[in-house]
Amino acid sequence: MKQLLVIITTLCSFSVSAQYSKTAIDSINKITQADYEQMLGQLGIKPTECRPGPSGNPSDAHAANRLEEKVNQYTLPDPLILKDGKKITTASEWWSKRRPEIVADFEETIYGIVPKNIPPIKWDIVSVKDTMIGNYKAKEKILNGVVDNSSYPNIKVQVSLQVITPADATSAVPVVLEFGFFHPFGNAEPIKAIGIISAGEPTWKEQLLSRGWGYSIIEPNSVQADNGAGLRSGIIGLVNKGQPRKPADWGALRAWAWGASKAMDYFETDKEVDAKRIAVEGISRYGKAAVVAMAYDPRFSLGFIGSSGAGGTKILRRVFGEQVENLASSGEYHWFCGNFIQYASKLTPDDLPVDAHELVALCAPRPIFISVGSPQVEGQWIDAKGVFLGGANAGPVYRLLGKKDLGTMEFPTIGMPLVENEIAFRQHAGGHSTGPNWSTWIAWACRYWGAGKYY
Ligand code: GCU
Repeated sequence: MKQLLVIITTLCSFSVSAQYSKTAIDSINKITQADYEQMLGQLGIKPTECRPGPSGNPSDAHAANRLEEKVNQYTLPDPLILKDGKKITTASEWWSKRRPEIVADFEETIYGIVPKNIPPIKWDIVSVKDTMIGNYKAKEKILNGVVDNSSYPNIKVQVSLQVITPADATSAVPVVLEFGFFHPFGNAEPIKAIGIISAGEPTWKEQLLSRGWGYSIIEPNSVQADNGAGLRSGIIGLVNKGQPRKPADWGALRAWAWGASKAMDYFETDKEVDAKRIAVEGISRYGKAAVVAMAYDPRFSLGFIGSSGAGGTKILRRVFGEQVENLASSGEYHWFCGNFIQYASKLTPDDLPVDAHELVALCAPRPIFISVGSPQVEGQWIDAKGVFLGGANAGPVYRLLGKKDLGTMEFPTIGMPLVENEIAFRQHAGGHSTGPNWSTWIAWACRYWGAGKYY
């Protein structure tokens, strides 16, 4: 847990302190608090009606549950039962009836609705150069996605995207799109990857290039800031013309996912990239963004969902590790729509019409790999088993669509790869990172994308 806290602090500091002074952070927190309170006002919730979440520090009196025997009893919504109580039995009923219900429930209660009037984005190629990624020759393109802000010129949105392809590629290559960073912050060294790379293994970037595949990185903060103070700017603020969100408006996760879909639009125009073979990947809050992006954009062919925890593939009803109350607090509510706060005040997580297994189900029939680290190194905030159960309980939908589920409902021992099927899972022995699972992910992805070349 200690390590997780350190890494989380580091992650947060990438997005906040490396860019802002202490005064600026205080001001961000103040504006965030004011935005949070105005949202409570819109929802008719008094601040005292919000239940506080448990602490991520295991030694605190109100520490989050870390004991399996203390997990509550809960009933998951059935992904195959319609709101009118009828069970669906065919793939066509899934597509025409049940899936749209689940999509709407997630939008109204958790992630928010993407507005219809988002202005267009124009991708400008800022630079193209030959480069080396470790031992591999590559071509780097840097793009700037300029969003048309003629409707509200006070807010500018420019999406940063890097695209790396093998220098010697002779045809379009598969690409993994990561939510992450490629620009250095301040005077810092360029960040190579978020997380820990297993000792002795090449970086994920080299592993992909060695396969003849490419990768791309989208910077989430260039789409939407990672705090409540930023909700009146970024793509959310631009569409709202600088005004506060309404309770069902989209949060940062869907905004980041929208950015990934815009990157996908670009890939469809880039002859060096095979837009039919694009995976989406991320760790932690970006693991949440990755599964949301995959759920809502069918063009992502594979997913690699790293330690996504609560708000990702972890069952929200499960009392273990991070809880809805934490997600709905002023530090994280901006990832979701305002309505979500209701489930940490007047309502409870059991009142949610959907749970995380149905988010995984929205990705069906496309293959999804769920990754998590070890409790000893990563800590238990993420709730590895809860993350697994999100995948395991999506099984009925994958089966209905003629695909194979995880193959077991039993939480596997650490390191055991469950990678035979379209829902895959592996808990690696490392920390808060997708790092130690890359080689397993690539081997699994080869089944769908072909082995590519290897050198
Ligand atoms: C916090 C947060 C998690 C999130 C993580 C991160 O720990 O509670 O939900 O996944 O930060 O993104 O680093």
